[in-house]
Amino acid sequence: MKQSSISGIYKFKNKIYTENPTNCKGLKIYDEQILKYKNKEYRSWNPYKSKLSAAIHKGLNKIIISENKNILYLGASTGTTVSHLSDILKNGVIYAIEKSPFAVKKLLNLCEKRKNIIPIMADANNPEKYKTLVPQIDLIYQDISQRNQDEIFIKNIDYFLKFDCQAIIMVKARSIDVSLKPQEVYDNVMNKLKLNKIKIIEILDLSNYEKDHAAILISY
Ligand SMILES: C[S@@+](CC[C@H](N)C(=O)[O-])C[C@H]1O[C@@H](n2cnc3c(N)ncnc32)[C@H](O)[C@@H]1O
Repeated sequence: MKQSSISGIYKFKNKIYTENPTNCKGLKIYDEQILKYKNKEYRSWNPYKSKLSAAIHKGLNKIIISENKNILYLGASTGTTVSHLSDILKNGVIYAIEKSPFAVKKLLNLCEKRKNIIPIMADANNPEKYKTLVPQIDLIYQDISQRNQDEIFIKNIDYFLKFDCQAIIMVKARSIDVSLKPQEVYDNVMNKLKLNKIKIIEILDLSNYEKDHAAILISY
Protein backbone atom coordinates (compact mmCIF):
# COMPACT_ATOMS: atom_id res chain seq x y z
CA MET A 1 0.00 0.00 0.00
CA LYS A 2 1.56 3.33 -1.08
CA GLN A 3 0.52 6.94 -0.44
CA SER A 4 -0.64 8.53 -3.75
CA SER A 5 0.11 12.11 -4.78
CA ILE A 6 -3.12 13.17 -2.98
CA SER A 7 -3.02 13.17 0.81
CA GLY A 8 -5.08 10.37 2.42
CA ILE A 9 -5.45 8.38 -0.82
CA TYR A 10 -3.45 5.18 -1.20
CA LYS A 11 -2.56 2.96 -4.14
CA PHE A 12 -2.23 -0.77 -4.31
CA LYS A 13 -1.80 -2.46 -7.68
CA ASN A 14 -4.18 -0.57 -10.00
CA LYS A 15 -6.74 0.45 -7.37
CA ILE A 16 -7.03 3.39 -5.01
CA TYR A 17 -8.01 3.19 -1.33
CA THR A 18 -8.87 5.30 1.71
CA GLU A 19 -8.24 4.26 5.30
CA ASN A 20 -11.27 2.97 7.18
CA PRO A 21 -11.56 4.73 10.58
CA THR A 22 -10.83 2.50 13.58
CA ASN A 23 -14.44 2.77 14.85
CA CYS A 24 -15.72 1.46 11.47
CA LYS A 25 -13.57 -1.69 11.26
CA GLY A 26 -15.12 -4.30 8.98
CA LEU A 27 -17.93 -1.94 7.91
CA LYS A 28 -18.61 -1.56 4.20
CA ILE A 29 -20.63 1.40 2.84
CA TYR A 30 -21.35 -0.12 -0.58
CA ASP A 31 -19.84 -3.22 -2.16
CA GLU A 32 -16.25 -2.00 -1.83
CA GLN A 33 -13.40 -4.34 -0.97
CA ILE A 34 -11.72 -4.07 2.43
CA LEU A 35 -8.00 -4.74 2.54
CA LYS A 36 -6.01 -5.24 5.74
CA TYR A 37 -2.44 -3.96 5.74
CA LYS A 38 -0.12 -3.43 8.75
CA ASN A 39 -2.93 -3.41 11.30
CA LYS A 40 -5.01 -0.91 9.33
CA GLU A 41 -8.03 -1.30 7.06
CA TYR A 42 -8.36 0.26 3.63
CA ARG A 43 -11.55 0.54 1.53
CA SER A 44 -11.21 0.31 -2.25
CA TRP A 45 -12.62 3.36 -4.03
CA ASN A 46 -14.54 2.22 -7.09
CA PRO A 47 -14.17 4.54 -10.13
CA TYR A 48 -17.39 3.16 -11.63
CA LYS A 49 -19.36 4.18 -8.52
CA SER A 50 -17.70 7.49 -7.67
CA LYS A 51 -16.82 10.23 -10.17
CA LEU A 52 -14.11 11.54 -7.87
CA SER A 53 -12.39 8.16 -7.98
CA ALA A 54 -12.90 8.13 -11.78
CA ALA A 55 -11.27 11.57 -12.05
CA ILE A 56 -8.30 10.42 -9.93
CA HIS A 57 -7.92 7.32 -12.12
CA LYS A 58 -7.97 9.64 -15.16
CA GLY A 59 -5.07 11.69 -13.74
CA LEU A 60 -6.58 14.34 -11.45
CA ASN A 61 -3.61 15.31 -9.30
CA LYS A 62 -3.85 19.04 -8.64
CA ILE A 63 -6.76 18.77 -6.22
CA ILE A 64 -5.88 19.76 -2.65
CA ILE A 65 -7.59 17.48 -0.14
CA SER A 66 -6.07 17.01 3.27
CA GLU A 67 -7.15 15.85 6.67
CA ASN A 68 -8.02 19.26 8.13
CA LYS A 69 -10.09 20.70 5.26
CA ASN A 70 -13.78 21.57 5.44
CA ILE A 71 -15.70 20.41 2.38
CA LEU A 72 -19.10 21.47 1.03
CA TYR A 73 -20.53 18.51 -0.91
CA LEU A 74 -23.46 19.28 -3.25
CA GLY A 75 -25.48 16.23 -4.34
CA ALA A 76 -24.36 13.85 -1.58
CA SER A 77 -26.89 11.13 -2.48
CA THR A 78 -26.56 8.09 -0.17
CA GLY A 79 -22.91 8.88 0.59
CA THR A 80 -20.70 6.65 -1.56
CA THR A 81 -18.16 9.39 -2.35
CA VAL A 82 -18.88 11.25 0.91
CA SER A 83 -17.75 8.15 2.84
CA HIS A 84 -14.30 8.17 1.19
CA LEU A 85 -13.88 11.90 1.82
CA SER A 86 -14.91 11.22 5.41
CA ASP A 87 -12.07 8.64 5.63
CA ILE A 88 -9.58 11.28 4.44
CA LEU A 89 -10.71 14.15 6.70
CA LYS A 90 -9.38 13.33 10.14
CA ASN A 91 -9.93 16.86 11.49
CA GLY A 92 -12.20 18.41 8.87
CA VAL A 93 -15.95 18.31 8.27
CA ILE A 94 -18.11 17.53 5.22
CA TYR A 95 -21.30 19.55 4.91
CA ALA A 96 -23.36 17.19 2.73
CA ILE A 97 -26.25 18.82 0.85
CA GLU A 98 -28.88 16.51 -0.64
CA LYS A 99 -32.46 17.25 -1.64
CA SER A 100 -33.91 13.74 -1.85
CA PRO A 101 -35.46 12.62 1.47
CA PHE A 102 -34.86 8.97 0.50
CA ALA A 103 -31.12 9.54 -0.03
CA VAL A 104 -30.83 11.65 3.15
CA LYS A 105 -32.32 8.81 5.18
CA LYS A 106 -29.49 6.51 4.03
CA LEU A 107 -26.95 9.26 4.53
CA LEU A 108 -28.06 9.55 8.15
CA ASN A 109 -27.07 5.90 8.72
CA LEU A 110 -23.58 6.77 7.51
CA CYS A 111 -23.37 9.69 9.96
CA GLU A 112 -24.05 7.45 12.97
CA LYS A 113 -20.44 6.24 13.03
CA ARG A 114 -18.81 9.02 11.05
CA LYS A 115 -19.01 12.20 13.07
CA ASN A 116 -17.31 14.40 10.48
CA ILE A 117 -20.35 14.44 8.13
CA ILE A 118 -23.12 17.02 8.64
CA PRO A 119 -26.08 16.01 6.46
CA ILE A 120 -28.30 18.87 5.30
CA MET A 121 -31.52 18.25 3.41
CA ALA A 122 -31.73 21.22 1.06
CA ASP A 123 -31.89 22.29 -2.55
CA ALA A 124 -28.43 23.43 -3.66
CA ASN A 125 -30.15 26.08 -5.81
CA ASN A 126 -30.85 27.98 -2.60
CA PRO A 127 -27.60 28.41 -0.63
CA GLU A 128 -29.20 31.26 1.31
CA LYS A 129 -31.36 28.61 3.03
CA TYR A 130 -28.35 26.77 4.51
CA LYS A 131 -25.88 29.64 4.86
CA THR A 132 -26.31 29.69 8.65
CA LEU A 133 -25.34 26.00 8.84
CA VAL A 134 -22.26 26.07 6.61
CA PRO A 135 -19.07 28.06 7.39
CA GLN A 136 -16.54 29.33 4.83
CA ILE A 137 -15.19 26.27 3.03
CA ASP A 138 -11.81 25.01 1.74
CA LEU A 139 -13.16 22.79 -1.06
CA ILE A 140 -16.53 22.52 -2.83
CA TYR A 141 -17.43 19.27 -4.58
CA GLN A 142 -20.51 19.13 -6.82
CA ASP A 143 -22.16 16.17 -8.51
CA ILE A 144 -25.67 17.26 -9.49
CA SER A 145 -27.17 16.24 -12.83
CA GLN A 146 -29.37 19.27 -13.41
CA ARG A 147 -29.68 21.52 -16.45
CA ASN A 148 -28.46 24.53 -14.43
CA GLN A 149 -25.62 22.67 -12.66
CA ASP A 150 -23.11 25.40 -13.61
CA GLU A 151 -25.30 28.12 -12.04
CA ILE A 152 -25.68 26.08 -8.85
CA PHE A 153 -21.89 25.69 -8.72
CA ILE A 154 -21.19 29.41 -9.21
CA LYS A 155 -23.79 30.42 -6.59
CA ASN A 156 -22.32 28.10 -3.95
CA ILE A 157 -18.75 29.20 -4.74
CA ASP A 158 -19.89 32.77 -4.26
CA TYR A 159 -21.48 32.03 -0.89
CA PHE A 160 -19.03 29.62 0.69
CA LEU A 161 -15.62 29.22 -0.95
CA LYS A 162 -12.68 30.80 0.89
CA PHE A 163 -10.35 33.06 -1.11
CA ASP A 164 -7.79 31.16 -3.22
CA CYS A 165 -9.41 27.76 -2.61
CA GLN A 166 -10.59 25.04 -4.97
CA ALA A 167 -13.89 23.59 -6.17
CA ILE A 168 -14.64 20.70 -8.50
CA ILE A 169 -17.73 20.05 -10.59
CA MET A 170 -18.68 16.77 -12.23
CA VAL A 171 -20.41 17.94 -15.41
CA LYS A 172 -23.00 15.66 -16.96
CA ALA A 173 -23.21 16.94 -20.53
CA ARG A 174 -26.51 15.26 -21.35
CA SER A 175 -28.31 16.92 -18.46
CA ILE A 176 -27.34 20.34 -19.81
CA ASP A 177 -27.95 19.99 -23.57
CA VAL A 178 -28.48 16.73 -25.47
CA SER A 179 -28.25 18.53 -28.82
CA LEU A 180 -24.60 19.54 -28.31
CA LYS A 181 -21.47 17.39 -28.35
CA PRO A 182 -20.21 16.80 -24.77
CA GLN A 183 -17.01 18.82 -25.47
CA GLU A 184 -19.15 21.80 -26.57
CA VAL A 185 -21.08 21.59 -23.30
CA TYR A 186 -17.82 21.45 -21.29
CA ASP A 187 -16.51 24.49 -23.23
CA ASN A 188 -19.72 26.42 -22.53
CA VAL A 189 -19.49 25.61 -18.81
CA MET A 190 -15.82 26.65 -18.69
CA ASN A 191 -16.59 29.94 -20.50
CA LYS A 192 -19.36 30.70 -18.02
CA LEU A 193 -17.01 29.98 -15.10
CA LYS A 194 -14.32 32.24 -16.57
CA LEU A 195 -16.86 35.06 -17.02
CA ASN A 196 -17.41 34.78 -13.26
CA LYS A 197 -13.66 35.27 -12.56
CA ILE A 198 -13.19 31.57 -11.85
CA LYS A 199 -9.84 30.06 -12.91
CA ILE A 200 -9.84 26.63 -14.57
CA ILE A 201 -7.08 24.41 -13.14
CA GLU A 202 -7.74 21.18 -15.02
CA ILE A 203 -10.45 19.28 -16.89
CA LEU A 204 -10.65 15.50 -17.12
CA ASP A 205 -12.89 13.54 -19.43
CA LEU A 206 -14.37 10.70 -17.38
CA SER A 207 -15.26 8.45 -20.32
CA ASN A 208 -14.57 4.73 -19.78
CA TYR A 209 -15.98 5.22 -16.28
CA GLU A 210 -18.85 7.71 -16.84
CA LYS A 211 -20.08 8.41 -20.36
CA ASP A 212 -20.40 12.09 -21.34
CA HIS A 213 -19.08 13.39 -18.02
CA ALA A 214 -16.12 15.62 -17.23
CA ALA A 215 -14.55 16.81 -13.99
CA ILE A 216 -13.58 20.48 -13.94
CA LEU A 217 -11.28 21.65 -11.12
CA ILE A 218 -11.23 25.40 -10.48
CA SER A 219 -9.81 27.94 -8.09
CA TYR A 220 -11.39 31.22 -7.04
C1 LIG B 1 -25.32 11.55 -9.34
S1 LIG B 1 -26.05 11.62 -7.75
C2 LIG B 1 -24.68 11.93 -6.69
C3 LIG B 1 -23.81 10.73 -6.38
C4 LIG B 1 -22.82 11.06 -5.27
N1 LIG B 1 -22.13 12.27 -5.56
C5 LIG B 1 -21.79 9.96 -5.04
O1 LIG B 1 -20.79 9.92 -5.77
O2 LIG B 1 -21.95 9.18 -4.11
C6 LIG B 1 -26.81 13.21 -7.79
C7 LIG B 1 -27.52 13.58 -6.50
O3 LIG B 1 -27.84 14.97 -6.56
C8 LIG B 1 -29.08 15.18 -5.92
N2 LIG B 1 -29.61 16.47 -6.39
C9 LIG B 1 -30.12 16.77 -7.61
N3 LIG B 1 -30.47 18.06 -7.67
C10 LIG B 1 -30.17 18.60 -6.45
C11 LIG B 1 -30.29 19.89 -5.89
N4 LIG B 1 -30.80 20.89 -6.60
N5 LIG B 1 -29.90 20.08 -4.63
C12 LIG B 1 -29.39 19.06 -3.89
N6 LIG B 1 -29.24 17.81 -4.36
C13 LIG B 1 -29.62 17.58 -5.63
C14 LIG B 1 -29.90 13.98 -6.37
O4 LIG B 1 -31.00 13.75 -5.48
C15 LIG B 1 -28.86 12.85 -6.32
O5 LIG B 1 -28.87 12.19 -5.08
